[in-house]
Amino acid sequence: MKPHHIREVLLTAEQIQNRVDALVGEMADGCRGTDCVMIGILRGSFIFLADLVRELYRHEVHPRIDFMTLESYGGGTESSGVVRVAKDVGLNLAGTAVLVVDDILDTGRTLSFARQHLLTLGARTVRTCALLDKPARRVVPFQADYVGFTIADRFVVGYGLDYDGRYRELPHIACVTFPGKAQET
Ligand code: IMP
Ligand code: MG
Repeated sequence: MKPHHIREVLLTAEQIQNRVDALVGEMADGCRGTDCVMIGILRGSFIFLADLVRELYRHEVHPRIDFMTLESYGGGTESSGVVRVAKDVGLNLAGTAVLVVDDILDTGRTLSFARQHLLTLGARTVRTCALLDKPARRVVPFQADYVGFTIADRFVVGYGLDYDGRYRELPHIACVTFPGKAQET
């Protein structure tokens, strides 16, 4: 791991919670009356998904829940561009309305791969949800159905997001800065 700082809070826990509640307000109606399956992409989505489903419960929506592990090779702050399924979904998705949840939409490769893969597994519909969206970084054209916050091109951690496997446990979202680089002022 390169020397770095985790000082600058981009989104507080309270801001995140308020936005999660509002997002669930948008998605709840679409889940009602369908065989809805929520699929979290591991590992970054685990906290976001946990908060989404507990808020969905308050809207009397009771989806089935599963996870898949997708990996784009390489650690650090750059992904390689090749997405692979490290652990697949266990539920039978035939005829289901899937809502796939990820922590952040960056190049777009992970969520566009996930959507295609889940359709191949038999999902009737696949909607996508990302807590964060960095449109400036897009390589594959992709728009999520639900986005929590659109952010600038900064590397962020917390609320499930990691830098080299760490800082997922932060209750807020913080920027990672590298001493000597332009963003460190
Ligand atoms: P994409 O496939 O490039 O859209 O990126 C998706 C994955 O890259 C996410 O699920 C994250 O694991 C990772 N990622 C992208 N940007 C960040 C960031 O700022 N912080 C932490 N992880 C990130
Ligand atoms: Mg990650």
